[in-house]
Formats: sequence, structure tokens, C-alpha cells
Amino acid sequence: MQTQHIKIHDISAQEADLRHAAQILKNGGLVVFPTETVYGLGGNATDAGAAKKIYAAKGRPSDNPLIIHIANPADAEQYAVTNETYFRLAKAFMPGPLTVILPRRECIPTETTGGLDTVAVRCPSHPVAKRLIELAGIPIAAPSANLSGKPSPTSAAHVAQDMDGRVDMILDGGSCEIGLESTIVKIDGDRLTLLRPGGITYDALCMVCEHVTIADAVTHKLADGERPLSPGMKYRHYAPTAPLVLLDGTPEHVIRFLRAEQELGNCAILCYDEELPYLREHHLFPVGERADLQMQAHLLFSALRHADATDAEIIYAHLPPQEGLGLALYNRMLRAAAHTVKHVE
Ligand code: TXA
Ligand code: MG
Repeated sequence: MQTQHIKIHDISAQEADLRHAAQILKNGGLVVFPTETVYGLGGNATDAGAAKKIYAAKGRPSDNPLIIHIANPADAEQYAVTNETYFRLAKAFMPGPLTVILPRRECIPTETTGGLDTVAVRCPSHPVAKRLIELAGIPIAAPSANLSGKPSPTSAAHVAQDMDGRVDMILDGGSCEIGLESTIVKIDGDRLTLLRPGGITYDALCMVCEHVTIADAVTHKLADGERPLSPGMKYRHYAPTAPLVLLDGTPEHVIRFLRAEQELGNCAILCYDEELPYLREHHLFPVGERADLQMQAHLLFSALRHADATDAEIIYAHLPPQEGLGLALYNRMLRAAAHTVKHVE
């Protein structure tokens, strides 16, 4: 398949390009588009055939359901059974990096939802995503636009590495602002379960809902045979070729450990900006200042892709804090590290 690459500089001036992309989606084709979280691999959510193409392009098991993307929060009613809690969340956080699990309506085929009776709904704030969905006039099913097992793509260059030749079109909208996938919550009456932490934090959800529970699998390994609340939790996510080890310890202990490791062997390091003067440049990937969780989220997947492309035998990174946006970083990094944490002292 020949993939068309289109750079979007100016949405209003490039309406024709977006119409072209929307037409591909309406015809059952695949278009990768930017969102504020990560790039999405889009297809018509109401078309079982398009859903199958998405799974094939990603190399993803077809029981791992897709998120459907809508242009306006109120559109959810057409595809899912909404309730008061949904609209409370929508008013506070949409458009934006929040995905809500609701009962599915018939027009969304089970191919899209991985066989489930629920459907994940998200209204992205990225202007290219919003305009594309509006022009297509259909809900767009879109997982992250990476090959299964790779980090989610946060730039069109990452997308091209994984998806060139596998999709009809890639819309390049620059780098994704947030850099981690959306927060996912399941609604049960007035109760929320946080299934995947992201840009909308646990604390922010608590401002709007009284009862918010964090699913165990967000911070802990699933026991053998345990059934996850979200199918995605059971799949091994991105795992770098070299093992990733997360370091837990005081800043001084960690830096001394890293300096010694650089002397001894061939390691790659995801470091804080403050640490740059103390470390050798070789295979060093800064992810922002220690206190700047937003920057760390923005840079994480790109830094992991770069670290993985080196010949390093081991990759080190800091164990993130579990507060605020840190919980999302913690969740993604713990999975990428297969829960390997080293305490240094
Ligand atoms: O930020 C995002 O959410 C990005 C952009 C493209 O919107 N999309 C994304 O999709 O991260 P994906 O497919 O990589 O992750 C979706 C997760 C999966 O772990 C899946 O298991 C879960 O959402 N999910 C989808 N539908 C679900 C459902 N009905 N019930 C429980 N979990 C669901
Ligand atoms: Mg994904």
C-alpha cells in the first residue's frame, strides 16, 4: 500500500486535505491523525471491516477494544448509553484527554469493541482531530498509531517508522502536546474506576466525582490468570529490546549509581535535565527537569524510542512519583520495565 503523507500547517487553508482524509475514512480506509495525547490510527467505528483493518495494520489482537473518537461530547449519546456522570465529566474535561467507558449501542459493531458490550468514547481537543471527525461525519475508531509492542507515537516521524505502507494516509500535525495516552475511566452509576491514568489526573477526577477508585492493575502486576477490567491491561505493552530498569533512591544515590554504570558498561539513561552536568553524553536522553512532569510525559515515548535504537545493553530511568501526572508516567514506565525496580543506596 502506498501511504500518502500530508503535513498540516494551517487547518483552514488545508480544508481540502482534511476533506480528502475524511473521504478515505468514509470509504473504509485508514488515516493516521494527530491528537493532543498521541497519534491515532483511525477508521470508521461503525464499519466492522475498517475495525479489522486497524487490527491488521497494528498487528494487534482483535479482543483488545478500540476507542471511538467524536467531535462533540453530546454525540456520545448516538453510540453509547450516557448518563448524568458522563455529562458531568464531559463538562469538566471534554474536549480533552479523557476516555469514558459506557454501554454500547448497536450501531457500534462488536469488531470495534473487541466483543464487549461497552464502548470507549473520547472527544479529542486537537484541532486537526476535531475537524477530521466533523468532516467525516462518523465516529472514528482509533488506537494509538504504533505497531503493537512499540511505544505510542508522539510525532509523525514515529508514525512513519511503524505505519508507512500499512495505512492510506498519515496527517502530520507536529508533536503531540501531552505525549501519554488519555485517562480511561469506567462509569458505574455515580462511581468511577480509573483504568488508565493520563492527562486528566486522579485528583482532577475527584473534583468532579465523589467515588473514584484506581484499578489495581494501574500500579500492580496482574496475578497469573487474573481477569483485567480493561483488556488492554493484560497485554504486554511496549518492551524495549534492552531491559529497562527503574531506579528508586535519593537523587545523590541515583546519580552515583549512574556514573558508576557509565564507567563500567554500555547503558542508555533517561535522565533529568539537572543531572546532565554529572553524566557522560553517550546514550543520554534528557526528559525534562525533575519537577516538570508535563515535560517528562511529553518526551517519554520519544526518549524510549531513541534509547531503544542504541546498542545499549540496559536502559535506566527514574521511578516516577505516583502523584498527579506522575501516576501516568509511573504506570507506563512500570509496564515498559516489566515491573523491574532497583533500589539504590
Ligand atoms: O489517547 C488515547 O487514548 C489514544 C488516542 C489515539 O486517542 N488512543 C489509545 O488507544 O491509546 P489504545 O487502543 O492504544 O488504548 C485503548 C485502551 C486499551 O487498553 C483498551 O483495552 C481500552 O482502552 N478499552 C477500549 N475500549 C474498552 C472497553 N469497552 N472497556 C474497557 N477498556 C477498553
Ligand atoms: Mg496503544
